[in-house]
Amino acid sequence: MTQSGPTTFNPLAVAQHTLDAPLAQILADRIQCDGPISFADWMECCLYHPQHGYYRRGKPTVGRDGDFLTSPEVHPLFGAAVGHVASELRRQAGNPQPFQITEIGPGTGALAESILRHLHATAPELAAATRYRLVEPNAAAAEQQRQRLLQVHSDRLVDQILSIDQLSGDHHLVIANELLDALPVHRLSFSGGRWTELFADYSPALGFHETSAAVSREALLEPLAGITPADGQIVEVAPDRASVVTRLANAVADGGLLLLFDYGYPRDRLYASWRRDGTLMTFRGHVPGDDPYAHPGEQDITAHIDLDQVDEAAQAAGLTAMPALNQAEWLHNLGAAVLPAVADAQVDTGRYLAARRAVETLTEPAGLGRIAVMGFSRGSIAPLPGWTAS
Ligand SMILES: C[S@@+](CC[C@H](N)C(=O)[O-])C[C@H]1O[C@@H](n2cnc3c(N)ncnc32)[C@H](O)[C@@H]1O
Repeated sequence: MTQSGPTTFNPLAVAQHTLDAPLAQILADRIQCDGPISFADWMECCLYHPQHGYYRRGKPTVGRDGDFLTSPEVHPLFGAAVGHVASELRRQAGNPQPFQITEIGPGTGALAESILRHLHATAPELAAATRYRLVEPNAAAAEQQRQRLLQVHSDRLVDQILSIDQLSGDHHLVIANELLDALPVHRLSFSGGRWTELFADYSPALGFHETSAAVSREALLEPLAGITPADGQIVEVAPDRASVVTRLANAVADGGLLLLFDYGYPRDRLYASWRRDGTLMTFRGHVPGDDPYAHPGEQDITAHIDLDQVDEAAQAAGLTAMPALNQAEWLHNLGAAVLPAVADAQVDTGRYLAARRAVETLTEPAGLGRIAVMGFSRGSIAPLPGWTAS
């Protein structure tokens, strides 16, 4: 509920954390000056503070040197699978020249590199027509991604923009891997028959701790209409994710595809009463955790997405949803184990076995295999590889 009078904050969990991390002092000062901040503001600051945010401070985040593994970091065959889809998409679109692929939040550039390597190896004419655009707000990361791609692709066919707000509507393939689950969420708690919102508070005596207060925006409750929560249940809601999806959808040209990969569930499963603590998780040094107030700016914070929200936003922007699949199903349909990224490795037993292990990792039912693969086309297109068995 939107507040008209002063907000009352009720202290909840107490977690003692030192202020060693530079961002911890900044957050403590801010809260002492302005009062408790919403969990979404806390997460935004922890992940995206310009100097000290987890994704802005210039240290590895994804990959073996970072804190958690994403599919492109596991093996190039994930990019090969996307490249295979791109080839068919371009063929169906009448081989446009240039063919515009755009990736949002490219991380280390691993996905871009493996897509382009696959195209150069299997479809040189398409590779020569492919303009690859990276959307990366962090200038240092953008430069590293660009240098990586220049090893594979021509300088004049790689470009970069800082923000999804700069996207025009002429992109044939718009891709994002684990973008939406890295966007800030609000947390709500159900108790005594009503929802309250969780805020981050600080005092020298208690350190960072959680407080609850009335829900700050009516819109936060909208996805929860029709669900029957359990007493004590915590959920995450993120209305801003819908506007990100809208902007990505608006970037897709006729005959083009928006392809999103993310951990998430349909709304009824995401907010099921047995999921009492929500889906928020942290990652540090490949160890999952559940304390988002520890190590501000030095650990990842993520929450699963509401697949219905993505569907609704993409369809409202004029796109057509392809059948829902998880990554294991999509890769099996694509025949991942026979894609050149695996098949070519057969000349070398070590590489071949590594590629086969990567297929298992990428399709692991409790891990990367359960990632949702969300495809949305503009206009009707024939089923693409991945959505039909090869
Ligand atoms: C979980 S990481 C995934 C990185 C990479 N896609 C991968 O799969 O390895 C999420 C990425 O999304 C980026 N990100 C978040 N919001 C963004 C935005 N508005 N525009 C572009 N990138 C964004 C973050 O900076 C981070 O690099």
